[in-house]
Amino acid sequence: MFMRSLFLLIFFMINDVHAETVLQGPNLGKSVSNVVINRWNRDVFPNGEGLPEGAGNAKKGAKIYQQQCLSCHGVAGTGGSADELAGAQHALTDDPPDKVIGNYWPYATTIFDFIRRSMPLHTPGSLNNDEVYALTAYLLVLNGIIGKDQIINKTTLPQVEMPNRTGFINAFKD
Ligand code: HEC
Repeated sequence: MFMRSLFLLIFFMINDVHAETVLQGPNLGKSVSNVVINRWNRDVFPNGEGLPEGAGNAKKGAKIYQQQCLSCHGVAGTGGSADELAGAQHALTDDPPDKVIGNYWPYATTIFDFIRRSMPLHTPGSLNNDEVYALTAYLLVLNGIIGKDQIINKTTLPQVEMPNRTGFINAFKD
């Protein structure tokens, strides 16, 4: 009887200690500031909703690309340690297909959203809106979608029609 009680006592003690450890957690991490939340919590939609003020063209974009993107994405976006962004060697219907921005992405506005949110890989959020517009223009020129002097801003970007615009099935159509 004594042994059984002792066993139960030890059993509950261990479990109690365990429960407390789980509740306390490892004390890692820190609260996220509003500045950081605002940097992540902003979306750009295909119709241009969410695009900020600012503008850029491919000439300026090319310069920024050489300094901040080329090391991973290669000369003229043809790929390196990271994805190729332009210059597909195969069509989407080939096996295997070669998916780049120009032949695959359905909306031009996603280029702006993606770069502003997550590039350059090690310092996301470091580019200002003019720089992101300029890079977007450069990538569109590399993909042969706009002319090299076209200004990209919140009005012109949603008007850019991507070649694969109708290549996706919208499963959420009402
Ligand atoms: C240190 C390496 C590195 C640098 C520098 C870098 N990128 Fe990237 N980039 C990546 C990686 C890795 C991915 C893939 C990330 C993923 O799929 O989540 C990527 C993905 C992308 C994509 C999406 C490609 C796709 O088809 O999905 C775009 C667009 C892009 N980068 C643009 C840029 C631009 C513009 C710059 C310069 C401002 C830049 N990147 C700098 C590593 C880099």
